[in-house]
Amino acid sequence: MSQKFKAMRGTHDILPDEAPVWRDIENRFVDICSRYGYSEIRIPIFEATELFERGTGFATDVVQKEMYTFPDKKGRNLSLRPEATPSVVRAHLEHSLGRKARVAKYFYIGPMFRYDRPGAGRYRQFHQVGIEVIGTSSPTADAETIQILWEFLKGIGLKDLKMRINTLGCKPCRVKYSEVLRGFLEDKLERLCGDCHDRFERNPLRVLDCKNRACKVVIAEAPDVTAILCDECVEHFDRVKGYLELAKIEFYVDPKLVRGLDYYTRTVFEVFHESAGVDSSLGGGGRYDELVEGVGGPSTPAVGFSAGLERIILALRAEKAPDDTGGGVDVYVAPMGDEATGVAYELASELRKTHAVWLEFDQRKLDRQLRSASKLGARYTAIIGSDEIARNVVRLKDMNSGEQHEVDRGEVAAWLRKHCGG
Ligand code: HAM
Repeated sequence: MSQKFKAMRGTHDILPDEAPVWRDIENRFVDICSRYGYSEIRIPIFEATELFERGTGFATDVVQKEMYTFPDKKGRNLSLRPEATPSVVRAHLEHSLGRKARVAKYFYIGPMFRYDRPGAGRYRQFHQVGIEVIGTSSPTADAETIQILWEFLKGIGLKDLKMRINTLGCKPCRVKYSEVLRGFLEDKLERLCGDCHDRFERNPLRVLDCKNRACKVVIAEAPDVTAILCDECVEHFDRVKGYLELAKIEFYVDPKLVRGLDYYTRTVFEVFHESAGVDSSLGGGGRYDELVEGVGGPSTPAVGFSAGLERIILALRAEKAPDDTGGGVDVYVAPMGDEATGVAYELASELRKTHAVWLEFDQRKLDRQLRSASKLGARYTAIIGSDEIARNVVRLKDMNSGEQHEVDRGEVAAWLRKHCGG
């Protein structure tokens, strides 16, 4: 019989042998966020489409082409979240969280959905970790955000990382730069790809992000944003760079870096990995001082980033970073015969208070059970047969050395604590 159902294109299963790596990375993210004073927020997977139109930006590719949008049974226009930032801002406003803390610091982990062409490191359901700092315009917050992303990726063992940063200036600077760019591109339109013609009309900054070779040649000549920045934006960016230097973060300024989302003002950043197969950034973010107001809140400055877990894991594999997540079990409990099943069940329940235990469910020969124990990476196999039951002992086989120890049934937990921790 052929397999009828398959995971939908652009989605993937995280199987039990991969899940420990995912969990380990997520735990490390939680750990670093907690050390920096961030609190977790969990937001819904779908929202009103209008939130993303106004938040992510109506003119972005994400909103124009990539959202999973559908009417619900009452005809409401909903979308699966393509990113979390507008939802976090919505929750922040809805629950008046800005009143509780002058500056709110959130982190999140979860799936996002974009109807993009699937490829290496590009999925339709992918997973992000991210942070959002809402309520401060200080450049120290920009630097802290970049530092968390950097330390997180370094901390999980990645080496070949590049942090690119840039500034897009405040809203008036951005408007001015868009005009300058439009003026520059106007007489070069025939050299640009079809998508860039569109971008030229909607948001000329996005042309700078085009991967098309012919467009890149044109972009190389384009004026840099630095030429038109106001004094405040220059000072803000200088201070961000200064703090990053104090934190000893390696970064370089790429005056052509723009981001795929329209809400950014001032600082933007992206971190790249050199690995083959990862065609773009592992993570990125920036300041978004206009977004809170854009979705109906008071004027509130904010900054944040998100990083893609699939791409991070691809990069880890490309570097062959050691997988130190452990896994396996401490004890494999191997009953032999019907009578032993109850004793084994009771022993496994007892040992699980302190150890990871695999209990054999079925009646199987001992050599088969020992093979299963090895496959599972068990440190000990607890063997219980009629002889052991009669003498009220358990035979503990060390799966590395092959040595066997007879231990009183009531002493097994203490013995294991002494010999393999827990
Ligand atoms: P973004 O650059 O659109 O930013 O996405 C951040 C990261 O999500 C990317 O660097 C990438 O690792 C991952 N990612 C994006 N699309 C895909 C995909 N189709 N497949 C796999 N991974 C993907 C944001 O989402 C903003 N919310 C970041 C932010 C937070 N800005 C301010 N605060």
